[in-house]
Amino acid sequence: MHYPYQIKSLEDYRNIYERSVQDPELFWSDIADHFTWRKKWNRVLQWEFHTPKVEWFIGGKLNITENCIDRHLIHHADAPAIIWEPNDPNEKFRKISYRELHREVCMVAAVLRKLGVKKGDRVCIYMGMIPELTIAALACARIGAIHSIVFGGFSAESISDRIQDAHAEFVICCDGAYRGSKIIDLKAIVDDALTSCSFVKKVLVYQRTKTEVTMHTGRDVWWHEIRNETDSVTALQIPAEEMDSEDPLFILYTSGSTGKPKGVVHTCAGYMVYTHYSFVNVFQYTIDDVHFCTADIGWITGHSYIIYGPLSAGATSLMFEGIPTWPDAGRFWSIVDKHQVNILYTAPTAIRSLMTFGLVPFQNKNLSSLKVLGSVGEPINEEAWHWYHEHAGKNKCPIVDTWWQTETGGILISNLAGVTPEKPTFATLPLPGIQALLMDEDGHVITENNKIGYLCMKFPWPGIMRTTYGNHELCRRTYFEKFTDLYFTGDGAFRDENGFYRITGRVDDVLKISGHRIGTAEVENVINMHPDIVESAVVGYHHEIKGQAIYAFVVNNGHKRIENELRNEINHNLSEHIGPIVKADKIQFVSGLPKTRSGKIMRRILRKIAEGELENLGDTTTLLDPAIVEEIIKGRQ
Ligand code: WTA
Repeated sequence: MHYPYQIKSLEDYRNIYERSVQDPELFWSDIADHFTWRKKWNRVLQWEFHTPKVEWFIGGKLNITENCIDRHLIHHADAPAIIWEPNDPNEKFRKISYRELHREVCMVAAVLRKLGVKKGDRVCIYMGMIPELTIAALACARIGAIHSIVFGGFSAESISDRIQDAHAEFVICCDGAYRGSKIIDLKAIVDDALTSCSFVKKVLVYQRTKTEVTMHTGRDVWWHEIRNETDSVTALQIPAEEMDSEDPLFILYTSGSTGKPKGVVHTCAGYMVYTHYSFVNVFQYTIDDVHFCTADIGWITGHSYIIYGPLSAGATSLMFEGIPTWPDAGRFWSIVDKHQVNILYTAPTAIRSLMTFGLVPFQNKNLSSLKVLGSVGEPINEEAWHWYHEHAGKNKCPIVDTWWQTETGGILISNLAGVTPEKPTFATLPLPGIQALLMDEDGHVITENNKIGYLCMKFPWPGIMRTTYGNHELCRRTYFEKFTDLYFTGDGAFRDENGFYRITGRVDDVLKISGHRIGTAEVENVINMHPDIVESAVVGYHHEIKGQAIYAFVVNNGHKRIENELRNEINHNLSEHIGPIVKADKIQFVSGLPKTRSGKIMRRILRKIAEGELENLGDTTTLLDPAIVEEIIKGRQ
């Protein structure tokens, strides 16, 4: 495939950016013209942020899988769509061509139809990182069902919350998943989750680990059995469902600063156009490159840059089932060498964790195929940036520091590999079509450079979220209320004299633990469930490898308990209720929390105490009980 809209120079970028801001509708419709449509749109854009309402390519009809698969069959059918590297390096890897992907997606689409899944139905997917996960997601898209993929590190309760919120009557899972030396019993976790979701009609189970599972008669169906009963000739003939541009493509749950995770909704056409455009430009993908995004498909990075962005571009997308440190810390480098990876896209937390193993893991690994490195999910510190640049990139690969969010669908601020300048720790410039700005606390636009402010967007791009599932008002309040007629990202940013943005981190109560997005309120809710705990306040603090870690200030009910026992119980509960990815690294028992006279917890003070910034705690005289601060400082972990 050839990408005529690929930006090739800084000058090109500047001109295109200018054009994209002058006439966004013309700009995006020119890009959208390069896709396969059943019917062309009759209006490019309709929007207002205060409601909010955003619609792109209105009246257009398409199916995203025809753009991600069928259109590549003409000239590119035998090219690998997916290279899959298993958890165990001794197991054979798989290469799946576009032709094979087409066949499998059609087969599973037919299976889903047979199970009764219809257009608009929600399907929850809880699987390990195997090609069948991508196939399952695309099969849903093929028939117009809305997938809701849940990351394999979440617990039964988190799954059932998500299934209930979306009222998903269908689940696709595996018997188990390999993760380093462990096997996770996914089906058993699903069974547990479904005890509170009796409305679920069918569970389709892919056999991966041959772990023993209980199959519920009438509800559970083996993937291989029903697939083998399906006639491939008929399956291949069934046309893909015709979808409206604005029909939902998927729901992905993500944490906010309050309450339970929200179901971010993305729609078919806008999301497709945006992930494709950002993929091709940020990574400067050229045909036959092997693109290796190490994220899990359970997160937005996997949705956009393992599945939809790369496949819509006819790219080869490498999927890895395992973890970076198993069987040893050279695993990424072995994979790069073995599959001649050209683009490596990973998270700062993975880089920092690999840094602790020194340089031995690089021995005898040929990394000369690498052309572009990428970073995503949290700010990358200078030391990690240089290490990545020197040891993975051998000082010859640009690093794209890509800033974006589940809500934005794709990358909004990033340098374009080798095309626009890079600057360590800076995401740099917005992509064409992205009108970023900084706001101050009082709601004024910050026009000067070398200033910090709240990062907002003033014009929609095709990949912006449309709503939060089942609660549009929540979407408005969370993203469109703080600043009038702007999308508020929840991040703070600094803009330098060149107009380059450096993301300073969240300004709300969302944590990024090893790149995983977790809300402090969710963590507090679980901690407070313990019968010996009265209340708690959770904040993040700087962690060398994870980026941020959890510090919990906990008030217990006066029962004499061995503190470490209680700590273990708290962490056990977090794992049970949210998932094994969440653990409170520090738990301090306190007799009370610093509160204002109106009862509001002063998190600002707790954050400073957690970070060890004890000199300047700010004004504590307005607190209900100022003495509590002294006590907390004394007992600091
Ligand atoms: C943070 C991940 C600094 C940011 C794609 C954002 C980043 C949140 C970067 C979204 C980056 C993401 N530099 N911070 N390059 N990329 N973030 O929804 O705080 O899991 O708001 O999406 O990650 O996290 P999410």
